[in-house]
Amino acid sequence: MAPLVSIRTTDSKIEIVDQLLLPHVVQYVEIASVHDAHSAIKTMRIRGAPAIASLASLAIGAHVEQALNYGSSSQPVEWMQSTDALRAHVVPLLDFLYTARPTAVNLGAAVARLRLVLDEPGDVHDVAKQFVKEAHAVADEDVGRNKEMSRHGAEWVLEQAGNPEGGVNVLTVCNTGSLATSGYGTALGVITHLYETGKLKRAYFTQSAPYHQGSRLTAMELIALGIPCTMICDTMVGSLFQTHDIHAVVVGADRIARNGDTANKIGTYNAAVLAKYHKIPFATIAPVSTVDLAIPDGTHIPIEHRPAVEATLARGAVYPRTEPVEQAVVQITPDGLGDDMIYNPSFDVTPAELISAVVTERGVHAIRQGFDMKNELQT
Ligand code: MRU
Repeated sequence: MAPLVSIRTTDSKIEIVDQLLLPHVVQYVEIASVHDAHSAIKTMRIRGAPAIASLASLAIGAHVEQALNYGSSSQPVEWMQSTDALRAHVVPLLDFLYTARPTAVNLGAAVARLRLVLDEPGDVHDVAKQFVKEAHAVADEDVGRNKEMSRHGAEWVLEQAGNPEGGVNVLTVCNTGSLATSGYGTALGVITHLYETGKLKRAYFTQSAPYHQGSRLTAMELIALGIPCTMICDTMVGSLFQTHDIHAVVVGADRIARNGDTANKIGTYNAAVLAKYHKIPFATIAPVSTVDLAIPDGTHIPIEHRPAVEATLARGAVYPRTEPVEQAVVQITPDGLGDDMIYNPSFDVTPAELISAVVTERGVHAIRQGFDMKNELQT
């Protein structure tokens, strides 16, 4: 079974696989407007830092492209009369898209990149065409760079582990594969590369409650790829390290500060603390667009808190499984547990001192005294 794609585009249509329904129901839904994209990102029908940046870019790109096409066939669209009008219309939409999820900086980087196009000199149609091209580039560039960072990351893992005869055991958290990106994945890309080159013994992954990116999405992707894997509950990381030979932990990132502090899925920090205690190398695998050079450290990273209700629910198929699948969302907490009694941050920040290396498409950036991502990316 081929891995699912998070976003598919046909001529003028954008569709996403509804990740709230996975793994039992595979349903693509159309994203017909910027508001559809915002809503899909906010409600986590699509998630994963690179995937949401890709969708936001494609959606705003399609909006501008429609105006370009419409304008040439009949009455020109009002906001296509001048570059000033184009900018005045598009900038608030870009700002709106960035409000959908605050932690993943890839979305902000995509918005900033597209905004720059609007300041370029030229006729409104040329600027609009360039904008559409750039919007597609944000999504298209993702797969190539994922393959690059995955190769660098896999080589790093093997080097750290001393390239053992029977291959390496690697733990990951959350979902960082093709569902979280435009394809191949970041941390899951490292695992895929290790597998494809015959160097992976086994991939371990956490369930990643409460949204269950691990048990619902990573499990699905690993099975589709035929990768030997074992799921653990989030509470079992320490036990796994005590009882198994785990060679490395690889995780994705939603925002990396200049000093290497990294925001990623809630539970990443726990895994990093335990990895440090057990002397297991720990790497963050992410594109350069996940690095936020504007912030010196992780204290400046905005952490998204999800609605309390999301921590009280579990989604899936009614058990035992029926055909066709009966989807269910079940409440797993007592009624008396009010919203004010629930703590539900979506991400935590892992301090750089717990991270051995940040791996990007540019290579391996080993964390050491005085580490600064700005210097790393300049060379
Ligand atoms: O809340 P999510 O599912 O969007 O969180 C996703 C993660 O934390 C991923 O690890 C991160 O975005 C990197 S995806 C390549």
